[in-house]
Amino acid sequence: MPDGFLSPVSAHQTRSPEGMRTIPCTALDLTAALVVFTTGLVIDTRLDTSKLQGSLFELVEHKFPRAGARLALRNGAYEFVIPHIFDANNPPVAFTSEDFPEPYRSSGRPELPIHLSDAFDSATPSIHPLPPALDEYLWSRECPTSLDGFLVPNTPVIHVRVTTFQDLTFIGLTASHITLDAVGVRTLLHAWTLLLSGEPIDSIQGMEWDAQPFKVFMGSAAATTQTLGGVPEPGLVVEHSCVPKVTTFIVRVPKAFLDDSSREINQSLQLRGSGEWVGSSDVLLAWWFKTTYSYRTIDDETSIHIHIPTDLRGMCIFPGPSALEDHDPYIHNATSLISVPPIPANGFHTESLAELALRIRRSVTASQEDLDGITAQLRMACANPSIPRFPNAPGSEHSLQSNWRKARFRELDFSGACKRTAHVVLVLGPIPSTPAPGLGIICMEDDHALWMCQTRTRTHWDNIRRSGIVAFI
Ligand SMILES: *[C@@H]1O[C@H](CO)[C@@H](O)[C@H](O)[C@H]1NC(C)=O
Ligand SMILES: *[C@@H]1O[C@H](CO)[C@@H](O)[C@H](O)[C@H]1NC(C)=O
Repeated sequence: MPDGFLSPVSAHQTRSPEGMRTIPCTALDLTAALVVFTTGLVIDTRLDTSKLQGSLFELVEHKFPRAGARLALRNGAYEFVIPHIFDANNPPVAFTSEDFPEPYRSSGRPELPIHLSDAFDSATPSIHPLPPALDEYLWSRECPTSLDGFLVPNTPVIHVRVTTFQDLTFIGLTASHITLDAVGVRTLLHAWTLLLSGEPIDSIQGMEWDAQPFKVFMGSAAATTQTLGGVPEPGLVVEHSCVPKVTTFIVRVPKAFLDDSSREINQSLQLRGSGEWVGSSDVLLAWWFKTTYSYRTIDDETSIHIHIPTDLRGMCIFPGPSALEDHDPYIHNATSLISVPPIPANGFHTESLAELALRIRRSVTASQEDLDGITAQLRMACANPSIPRFPNAPGSEHSLQSNWRKARFRELDFSGACKRTAHVVLVLGPIPSTPAPGLGIICMEDDHALWMCQTRTRTHWDNIRRSGIVAFI
């Protein structure tokens, strides 16, 4: 990582670059600074690439100028540097594309999991490889894969790669996590589809280049420990050098299974006179951790820490009557982290799906209701901006599980960029450089299933496969 992240402001202050607007990154933006992340969409028709590019440029220039920023580290602080004028030398987005005249499914390319429905029993969970060949459809070669890459002068913070086939379009949007969170990606993509569909640019809600909704949390002194729902929040990002090599698989879990399980759990809670409940995302995570730790021995007491980002937009933590999302689209990180109290690895054997789902739900509810705790956490983060380190406590394991259901990527309608209806048929959350081991994303929901991208070491996947607990396709 670059030097000087928290170094005291250097003696010779560099002046703000000419012809540029600058705005500091917030502490929230920097929490996942080392992560570069991609949202990958597969659309069921060929889209018009020049229309896509033209409308995206127009949108960023006029409505989301900060999405057209560059990153800079100046006088010891990270900031967004936004060109006053976007042009060929200062494009709002790094946009590249490639077109293949033939259908995707014609020349022995790897089958996408959505095309494989005949090959597996769709009523039970299944694990699918993420074909490495997709990389070239979602990322250009010039796309940075690290924070340092984004700090190269005049590198746009957002890179979009479009690959078209006669029957499919791949759109990969890659950004430093400093720039966007998942709901922010949704905000941007949704506005893009509106503009494509012919909505006048003036009626599209954008974000002011200098919006700083989290500024209110800066300045006041902070408590010494960050807690949310009573659990200390650790940093989750490790440096690249100590990350074991990881592989991403797609995990498909049928909704019928999740809904039946949560209904059953809800009923038995009700019978016991409890007011508690669980939802399908809780059951999904409980199932995933039961599955992933199924091969561990019964005396394995390694602490497993599960962390779940929660969206702060719409929470009553901002001063005044307005929640963030009502009036102002905000694309940068507006999440805080829920930490489920650690569970010993063997607990995933001994506890039922219901007990585990309930543990997860309790942590989520306790954290989301703890508005004072969230506010304290934000003040604390803002008073101590830093790139957090992974808690290196030997013998514990951490897993960050992001839920993109709220971002509703499947509902995006790209019809404006073709002459027919266009549906998003697959959403991928692959991470080119993943400094967080055990990372997972609930990336998509269709009529029949929830889909996750899960990242683990090869050995871990081999062990899950050998346990025979879930089908590998
Ligand atoms: C957003 O900020 C929160 C609070 O600092 C942090 O826990 C979370 O990891 C950050 N997420 C991203 C994507 O930067
Ligand atoms: C479980 O209960 C909650 C709260 O009553 C409800 O929102 C949810 O839909 C229920 N889930 C199922 C599958 O019945």
